[in-house]
Amino acid sequence: MPSPNPNRRQVFLGVAASAFVPGLPVIAQNRPALHVIKDPNCGCCGGWINIMAQSGFDVTVQNVSNDVLFSYKLGNGISEDLASCHTGLVEGYLIEGHVPPADVRRLLTERPDAIGLSVPGMPFGAPGMGPEDDRDAYDVVLMNKDGTTEIYASYDGQ
Ligand code: CU
Ligand code: CU
Repeated sequence: MPSPNPNRRQVFLGVAASAFVPGLPVIAQNRPALHVIKDPNCGCCGGWINIMAQSGFDVTVQNVSNDVLFSYKLGNGISEDLASCHTGLVEGYLIEGHVPPADVRRLLTERPDAIGLSVPGMPFGAPGMGPEDDRDAYDVVLMNKDGTTEIYASYDGQ
């Protein structure tokens, strides 16, 4: 006996296969390229990088000296009070510190006219900074081009 629903199965397989055709643009595969610069002696950046990679970002990493890292931040509109450890660049936006991947995805969907997002400092329990179920409260801020910020997302302490 033939399968009761052969066409449906074929359609499903066709869709699944086409989603992974090599050579499609990154945007079509929804794996945004994220380039991260970091100090080689800072370990927490690696935790965040792993989480971003697991969340579907195509991550590349560049180790630079602390001086180069901080002059990059300051030269691109990230003031000292907004700074964290690593700085990521994705589709023209800067991602400073331990920003949750869902907020980066939202940024890429909404595409505000801004520098990017920051989680200033290194709050305990932010992605890559320890267990989320024991975290300190923190905000993700949108860094505007005029130097002002607004709260983009807030995470309660646990
Ligand atoms: Cu860090
Ligand atoms: Cu770090």
